[in-house]
Amino acid sequence: MVPEYDMILLSEPIDAESMFVEVSIMKNGKRPDPNVIHPIAGYDKEIYVKPTISNPNIIVGDFTYIADSEFESHVTHHYEWNGDKLIIGKFCQIAAGVEFVMNGANHQMNAVSTFPFYTLEGWNMDPPAQYDLPHKGDTVIGNDVWIGQNSVILPGVYIGDGAIIGANSVVGSDVEPYTIVVGNPAKVLRKRFDDDLIALLLRFKWWDKSIEEIDCLIPILTCSDLEKVREQIEARL
Ligand SMILES: CC(C)(COP(=O)(O)OP(=O)(O)OC[C@H]1O[C@@H](n2cnc3c(N)ncnc32)[C@H](O)[C@@H]1OP(=O)(O)O)[C@@H](O)C(=O)NCCC(=O)NCCS
Repeated sequence: MVPEYDMILLSEPIDAESMFVEVSIMKNGKRPDPNVIHPIAGYDKEIYVKPTISNPNIIVGDFTYIADSEFESHVTHHYEWNGDKLIIGKFCQIAAGVEFVMNGANHQMNAVSTFPFYTLEGWNMDPPAQYDLPHKGDTVIGNDVWIGQNSVILPGVYIGDGAIIGANSVVGSDVEPYTIVVGNPAKVLRKRFDDDLIALLLRFKWWDKSIEEIDCLIPILTCSDLEKVREQIEARL
């Protein structure tokens, strides 16, 4: 543990102003910038997603990244006429091969055939009414969610803050905050922390703090001594 970390974790809580003095010079003299596309100089296979988005129905928070050189091709069957939104919070970590499947993927299921005649040339069928198409609503991902490699997020799913989606999972139902799910269909492996710590983290909402404050909080956010973390967060609420 580097000395500054000891100071922040082991001392009495310090006021916000003195915390900022500690980090007035940030790493390499640089300040993290959520509006740059490439957060790793010279490496184009990891991007901050927000500055790359052109679709108004995709909303992504600061510092959420994907392990790829672009994002929107990971959002499939997303048609303007459906009006569904993909909303992703801040500081999410999206691995390579992840797919967000949107409502346009779902064929009509309440008739005897699921064949989408209306989408293909020459067939004599008008588009079905919206109420005849399965529509599961917006897909909403919280903050600080880690989505493992090649996972598929199905339409209308909500994934809470701090959740972890295991590699190759297919997520078809909601995931509670700070919960790990794995598999197809994704099932709960375990909660990450006890209910009290989860409630504390959901009140603390570190991702909504200023860049300087988050930089100061890194020793707390990355400390595995959860009792110490609990004390430090409680002291700051
Ligand atoms: C979900 C994950 C974080 C769980 O890690 P963990 O807590 O160390 O879990 P364990 O390895 O102890 O496994 C616990 C059980 O879950 C199962 N499991 C773990 N990950 C799984 C996955 N992705 N899919 C299905 N089952 C999984 C294990 O087989 C084990 O099952 P068992 O109890 O029947 O033996 C990890 O396995 C994972 O998938 N990480 C994603 C990695 C990734 O995609 N990174 C992308 C680059 S950032």
